[in-house]
Amino acid sequence: MIRIGIIGTGGMARVHAEEFSKIANCEVVAACDLNASRLASFVEAHNIPYAFGSVEALLSSGQVDAVSIVTPDPFHKNLSIQALEAGMHVLCEKPLALNASDAKEMADAAKKAKCINMVNLSYRNAHSLQKARELIAMGRIGNIRHVEASYLQSWLVSPKWGDWKTEDTWLWRLSSAHGSKGVLGDVGVHILDFVRFPVGDFASVNCTLTTFDKAENNQIGEYHLDANDSALITARMNNGAMASIHASRWATGHLNDLRLVIHGDKGAVKVSLQLDQEWDRLEVCLDDDVIDCVWKELKCDHTPNIYQRFIQSILSGVQDQPDFEAGLQVQRVLDACEQSDQSGQTVLL
Ligand SMILES: NC(=O)c1ccc[n+]([C@@H]2O[C@H](COP(=O)([O-])OP(=O)(O)OC[C@H]3O[C@@H](n4cnc5c(N)ncnc54)[C@H](O)[C@@H]3O)[C@@H](O)[C@H]2O)c1
Repeated sequence: MIRIGIIGTGGMARVHAEEFSKIANCEVVAACDLNASRLASFVEAHNIPYAFGSVEALLSSGQVDAVSIVTPDPFHKNLSIQALEAGMHVLCEKPLALNASDAKEMADAAKKAKCINMVNLSYRNAHSLQKARELIAMGRIGNIRHVEASYLQSWLVSPKWGDWKTEDTWLWRLSSAHGSKGVLGDVGVHILDFVRFPVGDFASVNCTLTTFDKAENNQIGEYHLDANDSALITARMNNGAMASIHASRWATGHLNDLRLVIHGDKGAVKVSLQLDQEWDRLEVCLDDDVIDCVWKELKCDHTPNIYQRFIQSILSGVQDQPDFEAGLQVQRVLDACEQSDQSGQTVLL
């Protein structure tokens, strides 16, 4: 039985607790948060026996074998390294770190500790994405020419997930001083990985980031709302393909939708996720259908999710993906996007 401790008990921690509770051979036995009342209601809601007010107390308790780090982004690096040095296996939330040099320290610490390490690039769980990657690897769409990808959210417009003007869980995401890298770090990381996973590495990026006005002086309480909320990226991939990628929190009419279309010289694949609808769909235009541009939906095999793969890796001792090294590679693309926005130039990777 793998004993898990969850560090950070806010919005996303609920998903970690629920997903681990569905897996045989593991049990969430501990949780940790600096916010005592949030911690207390979390352990009660998920029936977790041990609650710790500090990470040091959790790591030295002898009660856990592995941790899930579900804190805001600025804490990922130190908490991961502390946990790895204490001999824990680590599943860390995305983005892995605030920049590539921090992510490199984490990847190095993971290699040194020889513990299982994974980053929760959770949309690799999509059956459609895994199948699309498989078709591409088999050469079914030929040489890739174009990639079109978007991650569209609308929580700055729609109150469906809560009120961003009053709730900390949203406000920190809008403020650089609170460690947010804006939409680029929050969901841009997912869509860049969504492209990189089936298509391969990025050769160069050109990126424009925008922060739209959203409050008087763009200030609410302690939060200065300066983090980007829309990102537009054009990229060249190592295989020569061109990509256009968009991430936004202002995509009115789209609550939480990812789309990826990959066009090759023999065929094309289209992945569509509507996360609030649990919609995960793959359409393909292959073989003779290329002539009349006919798209057909393809059924996809079930893919184990990252929580399941994390536990399986610990049990088997065989590191699965995406590991910290994969998190680092996406982080390098994120840094290049920021540099491109600041310089107005294309940045080579
Ligand atoms: N993979 C995904 O699809 C996905 C989805 C949502 C959020 N996330 C990621 O999950 C992380 C957390 O997001 P959230 O929405 O749950 O945030 P949140 O603000 O709702 O919760 C974070 C919690 O961490 C606690 N915390 C902060 N510093 C701490 C520390 N040093 N030790 C212990 N606890 C600490 C806070 O008190 C808070 O309760 C972020 O990195 C975010 O990017 C990932």
